[in-house]
Amino acid sequence: MASNRKIMVLPGDGIGTEIMKANMRIIDWLAKYRSIDFDMQEGLVGGAAYDAHGTPLSDETLADSIASDAVLFGAVGGPEYDDLAFELKPERGLLALRKEMDLFANLRPAMVFPALVDASTLKPEVVSGLDIMILRELCGGSYFAEPRGIEDQPDGTRKGFDTNAYTTPEIERIGRVALDLARKRDGRLVSVEKANVMHSGVLWREVMTALHAAEGEGIEYSNMYADNCAMQLVRNPKQFDVIVTDNLFGDLLSDCAAMLTGSLGMLPSASLGAPDPETGLPKAMYEPVHGSAPDIAGQGIANPLAQFMSFAMMLRYSFNQGDEADLLENAVATALKTTRTGDIMTPGCTQTGTDGMTEAVLNAMDQLAR
Ligand code: IPM
Ligand code: MG
Repeated sequence: MASNRKIMVLPGDGIGTEIMKANMRIIDWLAKYRSIDFDMQEGLVGGAAYDAHGTPLSDETLADSIASDAVLFGAVGGPEYDDLAFELKPERGLLALRKEMDLFANLRPAMVFPALVDASTLKPEVVSGLDIMILRELCGGSYFAEPRGIEDQPDGTRKGFDTNAYTTPEIERIGRVALDLARKRDGRLVSVEKANVMHSGVLWREVMTALHAAEGEGIEYSNMYADNCAMQLVRNPKQFDVIVTDNLFGDLLSDCAAMLTGSLGMLPSASLGAPDPETGLPKAMYEPVHGSAPDIAGQGIANPLAQFMSFAMMLRYSFNQGDEADLLENAVATALKTTRTGDIMTPGCTQTGTDGMTEAVLNAMDQLAR
């Protein structure tokens, strides 16, 4: 089947390259058994791009990413790049993609698979059946707002500083995505900031509350301070449905939510821009929440499941292929019943590496698709 659906593949560094290779086998399966063809292009990002071109994201790779229908991202970073100048660090490649593509809405679902209840460090009754969505604002706040920098001071000391700033339109556009998500899910939304300490938090709360009053009919809404939210996430995570929060709090709270599910290796994400006026589809990038895990890179033991589920999100949000997304997610759930990578291993299952886990998912796809 002909296809003009362009995926830009950016494996990045560390385990990013290994789990992306595994993801290609899923894509090959869809081509073979479902006649779903994508027009694939691969590029370098992060440390790999720095090694080849002296920059963590070349203009060409950025242009190709913007021109694609969706970007599939692995992970970036590694200790060998620690001493690089700030603007050359691998993470800058990822941040530049988010900013230049204006991917302001970062969806980070945290779901506990029944088979994984025991892999969480929390008690089974606290996490079983957990299904929450953290919506992180991704283009503003302390990650990007100016002024920021490191300056010499008259007394000879130095000052490092960042700014946390949000404008009304920035809050409203992420707020609308949050209301929409809540509407499609369980209808409950908690907005998280530090309005007790930060001016940006005061405005965030004001704007979100007004937006909910104006456009959030039928949605149960409340505000929560970020520190309390961190505590509530480990105390009683099932109280939440959708959490909307700023860039930095979203970074922290989503790692916390990831661990509820048993492993950071299980959490996918989608970063979406505004819908295209013609196609209705957003610019989009899909990436696992975990990083490049340099400590285990190259050993063939990385858990590829967050990458697969990020790809499932791509099928659903960028290509309207909900059936195939369901198939892949169900195959992951099935594979997990018997087969595990080390990070989520429990007695009674077979421990395997990246390839073995991938084969278990492919076998489950064979079985479920029949
Ligand atoms: C994430 C990561 C990134 C972030 C890093 C790699 C720049 O932690 O996606 O959560 O801080 O946003
Ligand atoms: Mg993070």
